[in-house]
Amino acid sequence: MQSITVKAPGRINLIGEHTDYNNGFVLPAAIQFGATATITKRADDEIHLTAVDLEDTLIIDSLANLRVSEKQWANYLIGVIVQFVKKRKFPTGFDISLTSDVPIGAGLSSSAAIECSIAFGLNELFEFGIDKMELTFMAQKAEHDFAGVQCGIMDQFTSMFGKKDHVILLDCQNMEYQYFPLNMKGYQIILFDTGVKHALASSEYNTRRKECEEGIQFIQEKYPKIISLREATMQILNECISPANHAVVYNRCKYVVEEIERTQAAAQDLKLNNIKAFGEKMFSTHEGLSKLYEVSCPELDILIDAVKGNENVIGARMMGGGFGGCTINIVNQNHSQDVIEQAEKIYQLATGKSLTHYIVSIEDGADFV
Ligand code: GLA
Repeated sequence: MQSITVKAPGRINLIGEHTDYNNGFVLPAAIQFGATATITKRADDEIHLTAVDLEDTLIIDSLANLRVSEKQWANYLIGVIVQFVKKRKFPTGFDISLTSDVPIGAGLSSSAAIECSIAFGLNELFEFGIDKMELTFMAQKAEHDFAGVQCGIMDQFTSMFGKKDHVILLDCQNMEYQYFPLNMKGYQIILFDTGVKHALASSEYNTRRKECEEGIQFIQEKYPKIISLREATMQILNECISPANHAVVYNRCKYVVEEIERTQAAAQDLKLNNIKAFGEKMFSTHEGLSKLYEVSCPELDILIDAVKGNENVIGARMMGGGFGGCTINIVNQNHSQDVIEQAEKIYQLATGKSLTHYIVSIEDGADFV
């Protein structure tokens, strides 16, 4: 085999936000948008990377010369290639031609889609025999080392392991996962895209991780065996962190502890087809993300307020890392057009911006095209 074309998708997350790096649960699914990579072996040792959508190419003259590039897009690819070099020997160089229809900056994991397409594709083309779980961690490491975001595992995991018409309940403590069919019974998932991505998104993300770690340190003074917020309870938080002296850390930890519990209960709601109860939990998550975790922004809050109280929207919240991107909404499909028009109007009036929406379909993870 000399050439291969593969595709890896972006993702949504129904509930369980900012819980993955706290060893908690998430409930994501892969979606119809994805990154498609064609990878072709070369006769020499060079690497030619092409971003078809940007009409830009980077040539790296040898596998020995892989380093951070000034071309931002190329770093997602180089980051993954570097992970392979650490584990395996490439017999030749290769060309990668990449295109993606995952909206960028929308919180749909366009970067994980790229990383996973490259990881999956290189592994197949060169028959390295690395399993999907290890590829997932390699893709995550690429994001840490070459994009500078200390992300959790949810996005790359979902892009690799997604399953058509199924959501995945992933336990990030031990990477055990369960698929279950998403029976929406007259409802559909609609994303409203704020069209903004505030500049502080990645730095604030890394700050949230640090704040959670600070919380763990307080807890460990009394409970040295606890290593993540997954093992904490509200009672433990109240014993160990003073809201008066450490309000920010307390609020961050409170949100995470509540969200981990809420995600497990929400998964149960879905299994029992109790979409209403599920939707209410989404609104609670938004409240926590906005007030306690402080990763929302005015545009996202406007979109949640716009649908709250609308009987045709049974759940909504901001989705992903925050500071822009999309809200995820569970909408009565007989009335989705009205809901969309109303949200568009309110958003336009409040921000002067037009609102994009995506109707989600749930698809398979990384695969051959
Ligand atoms: C980003 C990260 C994920 C996760 C979410 C928040 O998408 O890449 O690992 O932490 O934010 O839930």
